Amino acid sequence: MADIANIYVASDKRYEKMKYYHVGRSGLKFPAMSLGFWHNFGSNANQDNMRALMRTAFDHGVTQFDLANNYGPVYGSAELNVGRILSEDFMPYRDELIITTKAGYDMWDGPYGDGGSKKYLIASCDQSLKRLQLEYVDIFYHHRMDPETPIEETMEALAQIVRSGKALYAGISNYDKESTEKALAIAKEIHLPLIVNQRKYSLFERAIEDDGVKDFCYENGMGIIAFCPLAQGLLTDRYLQGIPVDSRIARDGRFLHESDLSEARLAEIKALNDLAHERGQTLAEMALSWILHDHRVCSVLTGASRPSQILDNCKFIANTEFSEEELDRIETICGRKSAK
Ligand SMILES: NC(=O)c1ccc[n+]([C@@H]2O[C@H](COP(=O)([O-])OP(=O)(O)OC[C@H]3O[C@@H](n4cnc5c(N)ncnc54)[C@H](OP(=O)(O)O)[C@@H]3O)[C@@H](O)[C@H]2O)c1
Repeated sequence: MADIANIYVASDKRYEKMKYYHVGRSGLKFPAMSLGFWHNFGSNANQDNMRALMRTAFDHGVTQFDLANNYGPVYGSAELNVGRILSEDFMPYRDELIITTKAGYDMWDGPYGDGGSKKYLIASCDQSLKRLQLEYVDIFYHHRMDPETPIEETMEALAQIVRSGKALYAGISNYDKESTEKALAIAKEIHLPLIVNQRKYSLFERAIEDDGVKDFCYENGMGIIAFCPLAQGLLTDRYLQGIPVDSRIARDGRFLHESDLSEARLAEIKALNDLAHERGQTLAEMALSWILHDHRVCSVLTGASRPSQILDNCKFIANTEFSEEELDRIETICGRKSAK
């Protein structure tokens, strides 16, 4: 239980600095910066830190919290931890929050705990709601494409979840252009509010530009939210002087490795860091600003291991404008354009 002397009252200034953007052509708005719980919310995470992260985010207008059934470790533990903190701290603010979860990767043993079948998605949504102690989530996502399941079945499962009131909207994640196009066509036919595609996107990860999904979503009224916008911390000043012992590379090692910090990558990070300072921003701020600069992505889905990172990252919202020359320099540094 929450310490009675420490009952959370959200800051009355929480909406002063954050900006909110429509998710595609839907009526829903996302905060320019959202917070995800892929890391730092597992069964071995520090309880006080998790609470502080959520409070700090909401106090600064970060109204969207993102989860998936298997965030941990162990699978399910991030939803359990967040569910407890939501019930203790955030129930007076439930209608001010977008809570999202997903299913699509492996979650439980046997043939029904992975993929895109109706059997898996309906059961997983029910399990997530129990762990989160919620009656509904705002968005339920199919987490990845499943070539073994007809996409019609997956969309029908999302529609059933929405119709039954367990989610208000549906989303897809990691869907390429071809599958996004198919999913959207089916969604229109069956009146499914499929409003968003959650894709990895950063200065270092351009697949959504290359596979055409960024333009397709924009032109067809579907929102895009960019995950890992800081390339898991590489696009910050975290690794400029080596690998700190408390960093994701040193502490976690599941998805970000020392080998990701090659000499060539470090040189790019340093050049981007110089440009950020010329703009009067930190590298993290510039990396986040850049994602929103052309108004085709509606939110950056960040992670944080400590509250101060949320406070630092929020500052990007003050400047998301780039000159043509700055954009050119970025493309050159990132190897997307040859130097003049
Ligand atoms: N749909 C999908 O398949 C999918 C996949 C992956 C992620 N996601 C979503 O995206 C969310 C974010 O992913 P992510 O955590 O990889 O995002 P990220 O924002 O790219 O990286 C966050 C990490 O960078 C470091 N960091 C953040 N701000 C910093 C700052 N100002 N200075 C220095 N270091 C800073 C921290 O790591 P340290 O530990 O080093 O401090 C932090 O945990 C996830 O929680 C999840 O919701 C979705």
